[in-house]
Amino acid sequence: MTSSELRQKYLDFFVSRGHKIIPSASLVPENDPTTLFTSAGMQPMIPYLLGDNHPLGTRLVDSQKCFRTQDIDEVGDSRHNTFFEMLGNWSLGDYFKKEQLTWLYELLTNELQIPVDRLYVSVFEGNDLIPKDEETASIWKSLGIPENHIYFYGVEKNWWSRSGTPDQMPVGEPGGPDSEIFFEFPNVPHNPKYGEHCHPNCDCGRFLEFGNSVFMTYKKTERGFEPLIQRNIDFGGGLERLLAVVNDNPDVFQSDLFTNITAVAASTCGASNGRDIKSDCQIIADHLKAAVFLIADGVRPDNKLQGYFLRRLMRRAMVKMQKMSGKTSDILTDNVYNSVVTAVFETYGSTDYFKNTTVENILAVVLEERDRFGKTLNLGLSKIGQISPFDLYQSYGFPIEVTEEIYQEKGLVLDKESFNKDLKAHQEQSRTASAGMFKSGLVDESVQVVKYHTATHLLHEALRQVLGKDVNQKGSNITSERLRFDFSYPQKVEALVLQKVEDIVNQKIKEALPVKFSVMSPDEARSLGATLLFETKYGDQVKVYQIGDFSVEACTGPHVTNISELGHFKIVKEEAVSAGVRRIKAVLD
Ligand code: SER
Repeated sequence: MTSSELRQKYLDFFVSRGHKIIPSASLVPENDPTTLFTSAGMQPMIPYLLGDNHPLGTRLVDSQKCFRTQDIDEVGDSRHNTFFEMLGNWSLGDYFKKEQLTWLYELLTNELQIPVDRLYVSVFEGNDLIPKDEETASIWKSLGIPENHIYFYGVEKNWWSRSGTPDQMPVGEPGGPDSEIFFEFPNVPHNPKYGEHCHPNCDCGRFLEFGNSVFMTYKKTERGFEPLIQRNIDFGGGLERLLAVVNDNPDVFQSDLFTNITAVAASTCGASNGRDIKSDCQIIADHLKAAVFLIADGVRPDNKLQGYFLRRLMRRAMVKMQKMSGKTSDILTDNVYNSVVTAVFETYGSTDYFKNTTVENILAVVLEERDRFGKTLNLGLSKIGQISPFDLYQSYGFPIEVTEEIYQEKGLVLDKESFNKDLKAHQEQSRTASAGMFKSGLVDESVQVVKYHTATHLLHEALRQVLGKDVNQKGSNITSERLRFDFSYPQKVEALVLQKVEDIVNQKIKEALPVKFSVMSPDEARSLGATLLFETKYGDQVKVYQIGDFSVEACTGPHVTNISELGHFKIVKEEAVSAGVRRIKAVLD
């Protein structure tokens, strides 16, 4: 069965039982600042589960786009994806357990012809607050699930809320006991690494959980739980997994939701060198597919929030593609990305997920990120083992998963704790520093202004190299359109000399030097050779920015992390300001 047939069958089944189809919400939750991504079908439904009236009534069905950051590390196996579709049906205070379980059973065994003897279910075993769910177990039994296929588990497995177990839930959040459904692949042998005995929730791959009926009936309060004003059903089933079940293939990557994308990724990367590329292909397909969906929903690569996850996905996929090709230079071509993005569009051709965008729009974002990362990628790779994972992250934009994988391949040991410590210290320093930021002639903190700020440091050092060490900064003014830099020099600077200064700056940009900072005493800064401007402004501690080994300057920042981001530097004007002080205006393009 194809994915579009299955999606349609599911929707039709519930429509014929009185449900209305609702469109998928965006991957970026609207009006919900508590979470970065839509990671379950119920997320956009929370107000209605709590009692608001839904305009389409009390029976709803959909296929919701979801993105789960916590599964990034699992994607290499046969059943985890970062992006997936969750088939959902809801009763908002309408039908309850009996109808839900009966319909689900009917859908699976009649409509989809799944053999009953390979189905297993789990039920909540109860705790001191909420009783054991005997009712659900007896409904399953009456439907035909053998008693030895019904397993009871505690809150870790059979309680569902967006935040996890009952004690992890914030006050006001809805949750409830649930009943999961599993399919057994008898040919997948149990792996004793996961425990002596295999059971539905064992992680060895023999059982695949593909659906979950949540009996959403409780609300967390200050004192414990109270019943919600209505009894709800929240069913969610992974389309990718249900497809694996229907087609009796335990590997979700073998379905049409992936095969075209993985094949295109492998062939355009020229992966013919006989290496085992399956897991790499899966990661590339998963990550680039997720990236396409995130971009379509308005996310852009960034160093924070949703954009950071997008950046991590794209960069990890880029490193894998480069590795898979066995080449270093011509892998990251437009054609590769065009083919993969097109394959993602074709895979979802029967849906309206991309109705508001085009391959070209998505590709433009992907290629921009490729250009940004491409500049530092090879340089970063050549530094592996020589500099710390944190420096690779900070200076060359290497996501930690990327560094981790390269370390593994090379048999190096990565100290994650030390990385996290450095990252935290860096974030704290940035916060402290940001209190005094933007005092140095910057008008705002836009990306372009930050670039101009870094370009000013390069210009300053280039002037000192060409005109002599007596050149000193006398002031600067930066907007998002240009930089203005005043410096001490007794006469006009000739065009040929200016050209030389410009060439030095552009040469350094080409070298893709990283920008780093450290905090130290003014004396230490001087001993490093740092240029200290306007000395009276400095306190006990100064922040010193180093651009490769080219420039050292005390400054509050902010700066780009690698000067390859600056593009091309051009001096547009040189003039006198006052006796002994000259002014240069320059642009980046
Ligand atoms: N909310 C439940 C889940 O995500 C069922 O939809 O598993």
